[in-house]
Amino acid sequence: MAQRPKDSPADPLGIGQGGDPSENPLSGRVAVHPERVSAEAHVAQEIADLVRSRPGAVLGVATGGTMKGVYRELAVRARDVDLSRIRAFSLDEFLGLSPENPHSFRAFLESHFVGPLGLGAEQLVTPDASWAEADPAAAARAYEDHIAEAGGIDLQLLGIGRNGHVAFNEPGSLAASRTRVIRLDEVTRADAVGDFGSLDAVPTRAMTVGIATILDAKQIRLLAFGEGKAAAVGRVLRGPVGGDVPATLLNAHEGLQLHLDRGAAGLP
Ligand code: PGA
Repeated sequence: MAQRPKDSPADPLGIGQGGDPSENPLSGRVAVHPERVSAEAHVAQEIADLVRSRPGAVLGVATGGTMKGVYRELAVRARDVDLSRIRAFSLDEFLGLSPENPHSFRAFLESHFVGPLGLGAEQLVTPDASWAEADPAAAARAYEDHIAEAGGIDLQLLGIGRNGHVAFNEPGSLAASRTRVIRLDEVTRADAVGDFGSLDAVPTRAMTVGIATILDAKQIRLLAFGEGKAAAVGRVLRGPVGGDVPATLLNAHEGLQLHLDRGAAGLP
């Protein structure tokens, strides 16, 4: 990776252990940042540069605590970049919540992405949860078509769940999966209790883009912070690849880069 943070060790994750590091598909594409803000700033700058060179860029945007700093850093840069022509597609949405519900991902992105960046509401497309309830297959197909009609995703932002999910592709997801309704994993629901107040209040289903949808993006930036993510991240870095840790299914994508802090990298 071109701009590896200064104090990022050459092979911080032991990806070369037991073999030639150059044989690891992720070799050179993992940055371990001393502080998460440096990861957030790096990725925000990449987005700003992308939009400068391609004003109609199509972004894939993620929700979750991991992304808040990226959007904050992007908002700082938005003063110097014209974002009025970008389009953004989100990864997933809970079923059973109205779009106005403060816990919906639409609401999250309105308050952390659309608002601070001064975007028009129509610049962000999110899965239609009520349509997905009524006709999951049609809603899923329409979402895929919408992304394709926009020309595909130029840069996809991704977090990772403690269980290795990306978007709501829960353990057991297939590399060929496309947008669909999925039952949420219990680890995912437990991790959402902090937001919803109780386990009973956490939705049981969501609509999510698939692994194959994510693999269609030209570039993917996966960010992970904190030691709670180290086990899942370790599987991405060292394998084996398998649907039990869905993020590993992205390893072969040549545009995938990981930005980690020391905790997520499994370093002290
Ligand atoms: P987080 O979620 O950013 O809130 O940790 C990431 C994810 O589950 O994909």
